[in-house]
Amino acid sequence: MATFTLPKNSKITPKGKAHTVQGASRVQKFRIYRWDPDSGQNPRYDTFELDLDQCGPMVLDALVKIKNEIDPTLTFRRSCREGICGSCSMNMNGKNGLACTTSIEDLKGEIRITPLPHMDVIKDLVPDFSHFYAQYASIRPWLQTATTTPSGKERLQTPEQREKLDGLYECILCACCSTACPSYWWNSDKFLGPAILLQAYRWLADSRDEMAGERLDQLEDPFRLYRCHTIMNCANVCPKGLNPAKAIAETKKMLVERAA
Ligand code: SF4
Ligand code: SF4
Ligand code: FES
Repeated sequence: MATFTLPKNSKITPKGKAHTVQGASRVQKFRIYRWDPDSGQNPRYDTFELDLDQCGPMVLDALVKIKNEIDPTLTFRRSCREGICGSCSMNMNGKNGLACTTSIEDLKGEIRITPLPHMDVIKDLVPDFSHFYAQYASIRPWLQTATTTPSGKERLQTPEQREKLDGLYECILCACCSTACPSYWWNSDKFLGPAILLQAYRWLADSRDEMAGERLDQLEDPFRLYRCHTIMNCANVCPKGLNPAKAIAETKKMLVERAA
């Protein structure tokens, strides 16, 4: 159920700490959301100034520099620093994206960094993905077959069949799209959201999968699929250039075709 006001303990109240840099010619200020569940305090924004001549070019470089040199308690997820693992998804100046592929120079003015919106926060920039992963598990994201594998070998695809997975298999489950989707903000308890629906379509589009009927049965529901109102925020923010709204539209088309 949607709530329209922040709970009291989520409001940003304490004055944050400010860390300045001296003698730098290219100073960049970062305003970063901080929340420590063990402190008993409300969230705050801390500001950190960095000398860009002493820092790598990406937002993740800045976060790593702050953690290494200024405040080791700053908490965020990262792994590959190549836009592959999806760990460093966060909101930068109001737009969701990957910190490792977002250039500092592309962001204007003071850079405000917060966790992905509308998710519970575990600490600082780390959101709780438990519900998102449970929704992912609910679509059974693996190849399901009813027949035995032909002549004991792998199931083959033609190049054309394989092409149908382009634009789908590249999803890194970063949740930038789902947490930018207004329908997901208000109905994430029941609506699967763009990331999970794109993944669901990835299996519907796979010529080797033999459970399309069961998969469609599971999606045919007023909330799970049909809360998408084609607002397109999902396609606008996807750091891999994917279009979940199109995958959702294809799924709806499959449902219409099977009902005809
Ligand atoms: S197109 Fe659908 S899934 Fe994408 S942001 Fe809009 S409502 Fe959400
Ligand atoms: S569709 Fe794009 S934004 Fe959404 S989870 Fe996959 S990679 Fe991330
Ligand atoms: S660190 Fe892996 S996607 Fe950014």
